[in-house]
Amino acid sequence: MAKKYIVSALALLGFMVMVSFAMNQLLFSELGTTMRVIRPDAVKSADESVPSYAVTDHTTTEPTGMKEGKIKLPAPALRGRMTVEESLEKRRSIRSYRDEALTLAQVSQLLWSAYGISDSTTFTARSLRTAPSAGATYPLELYLMVRNVRGLEPGLYRYHVEGHSLSLYSSGDISRAVADASLGQMMLHDAPASLIYTAIYSRITGRYGDRGAERYLFMDIGHSAQNVYLQATAMGLGTCAVGAFDDERLASVVNPPLEEVILYLMPLGIPK
Ligand SMILES: Cc1cc2nc3c(=O)[nH]c(=O)nc-3n(C[C@H](O)[C@H](O)[C@H](O)COP(=O)(O)O)c2cc1C
Repeated sequence: MAKKYIVSALALLGFMVMVSFAMNQLLFSELGTTMRVIRPDAVKSADESVPSYAVTDHTTTEPTGMKEGKIKLPAPALRGRMTVEESLEKRRSIRSYRDEALTLAQVSQLLWSAYGISDSTTFTARSLRTAPSAGATYPLELYLMVRNVRGLEPGLYRYHVEGHSLSLYSSGDISRAVADASLGQMMLHDAPASLIYTAIYSRITGRYGDRGAERYLFMDIGHSAQNVYLQATAMGLGTCAVGAFDDERLASVVNPPLEEVILYLMPLGIPK
């Protein structure tokens, strides 16, 4: 009799596991291709108290981990030297930068803070990120404009959250043209690198309609940009949110895919 109960209980348990697996597949399969990603764990340096981006980057010309056109970025550090409270207190918009290169580890850390995956072992379009997003729709795309980053040739790179990597979007230094299109704000030319945010409106309007386009999208970008401000400050770097630019002129310089609208720029560098 007892054996019969045990067999039934085991059968029920097996059934529940199968139902839960099927629900998971149903929930996520239509949201994007399922792909394994490795959660970016802290890179351990010899001195545990030193975050990886602060360790001298020995990259010279060849980026590490180049695979199928993708440049794998170093894993972000999950410990830093500054508390979030200190970073909040110190954060300022910085508009002049030293003429010094950034390292791959530094740009990796800043990209991750902006929109990197922070809670997933399996990539879906809705894998949770460092910044909140209405309905986890993640309408933003990020580009890194490179003028002087060790290990990256000057050009425009697309950031891929899955796999935390970059791919070259267009070659050549466009920082001068970007600064000119941004009402002559030369910090965009002087900075060794800048983030360029675009948005794909349909991702958020598909779920929220006009409210998504008129409100949520801008809230999303604000969350992400503040992450970059705080992360840069904590790393001893500087940035400045830039929203003033000639939309059409900038779009003709950056040339994003048709469905993407450029919304925000953030030059990055070592403060003067
Ligand atoms: C939506 C938005 C757009 C901005 N656009 C520019 C800009 O085009 N150029 C600029 O120098 N600063 C820009 N800023 C930065 C503000 O000028 C700055 O945040 C403000 O002066 C407060 O200074 P703080 O950031 O140092 O606290 C922008 C900030 C925001 C939030």
